[in-house]
Amino acid sequence: MGNTSASIFNLLSFLLLIQIGFLVDMFEAQPFTALYTFGDSNMAPQSASSGKSHMPYGIDLPYHLYHVGFSNGLSISDFLDDLLGFKPGIPYLEADDATKMNGSESGFNYAYGSATIRPPRGPTTGLSMEMARQVNLFEETLYRYIETTVENKTLYLSLALFAVSIGNNDLMHLVPRADHNETKFDLYLDHLMGNLTVQFKRLYELGARRFLVFNIGPLGCYPIWLTTTSDSKAKCNEDINRLVSLYNGKLADKMDYLNCELSSSTFTIANTYKLVHEIINTRKYGFSDVTNSCCPVQSPGGFCVHMGVPCLDRKKTLFWDKLHLTEAANKILVTKCYSGDGDICFPWSIRDLQKTLVSESSMLLNVFCDLIAKF
Ligand SMILES: *[C@@H]1O[C@H](CO)[C@@H](O)[C@H](O)[C@H]1NC(C)=O
Ligand SMILES: *[C@@H]1O[C@H](CO)[C@@H](O)[C@H](O)[C@H]1NC(C)=O
Ligand SMILES: *[C@@H]1O[C@H](CO)[C@@H](O)[C@H](O)[C@H]1NC(C)=O
Ligand SMILES: *[C@@H]1O[C@H](CO)[C@@H](O)[C@H](O)[C@H]1NC(C)=O
Repeated sequence: MGNTSASIFNLLSFLLLIQIGFLVDMFEAQPFTALYTFGDSNMAPQSASSGKSHMPYGIDLPYHLYHVGFSNGLSISDFLDDLLGFKPGIPYLEADDATKMNGSESGFNYAYGSATIRPPRGPTTGLSMEMARQVNLFEETLYRYIETTVENKTLYLSLALFAVSIGNNDLMHLVPRADHNETKFDLYLDHLMGNLTVQFKRLYELGARRFLVFNIGPLGCYPIWLTTTSDSKAKCNEDINRLVSLYNGKLADKMDYLNCELSSSTFTIANTYKLVHEIINTRKYGFSDVTNSCCPVQSPGGFCVHMGVPCLDRKKTLFWDKLHLTEAANKILVTKCYSGDGDICFPWSIRDLQKTLVSESSMLLNVFCDLIAKF
């Protein structure tokens, strides 16, 4: 598709999706059967990644109720569980067989701290948990646990939510080198999107239908990159943000494409970029510190120093360490995504995804997709 037809496609799909938003409003929401989460440290329990969790991570968590994530308190997946009425998700990588058997119906968390889209090149030290491996584990879940516990697998999976946050680590590794050659960067992003699409298609083939995909935040504003900007007054490194936006744009196009390509599927984007940008640039969320990490951090790495004493005003601080948001920010992201407020989740809010007849609107979508395919 050329550039012109691509923008026509975007415009049409934008108009269409607004229409579909209206249609979806007419149907009743129905609880999801399960929540399956995939991705990187924005989704992962820490213990799955490191074997144990380190203070001050999880300092604000109710004791032993939750697995400690990469934040001071609840993570994105915790808030999703909470809002959707599930118990805290079971980390698949560390749960024993009995726990998995007992808890399988409400879903699992497959996310892993350093996970990437791109498979590692050459031998790696430690566990590598790229997206493909996480989908393998989901496949294993189906034949080991779900087939035996769930009556109608097709129905069960079509009513489950699949939430994915990935790509942060791929960009983190790449961005410092990318500004030298943008053509190369663009090509690389296409490869990433190609590889990611393969995994989404696998999940679809296995029965998944409702997808919530988190895009990448404005990394150029995160404390990890702030020090690299030459202009000491600048809040954000806009060069880096431009590259992230390029990625997010391609991701949005891919989601449009998958909505059309895979019938009865609904892919929606959770716009982390937009929300974090808003929190930094407007005062309406009431954050008083939008530039510094709350905990004292290691350098390099950007994680909290073990037993480091964090800032006190954690409810008004945006960044927890140099790479991750605080519980306060995670909460805004997930609640807005759930309600649809501010189009943080677009074209569908999580509540829209819960409505049983989303597939009806997908039929309408198909009509438009056919039309668009003629361009
Ligand atoms: C299975 O899950 C139920 C509900 O959460 C819990 O009450 C029960 O203790 C669990 N049983 C085992 C063997 O883990
Ligand atoms: C499972 O549910 C789907 C959708 O409601 C239905 O079409 C199908 O016949 C059901 N399969 C079985 C084996 O009951
Ligand atoms: C950038 O990368 C592309 C593709 O690898 C290459 O063809 C081009 O010569 C490179 N440009 C520069 C300025 O290095
Ligand atoms: C996956 O990425 C590799 C490069 O890492 C690329 O060669 C390959 O074409 C990509 N696969 C798809 C389906 O795009």
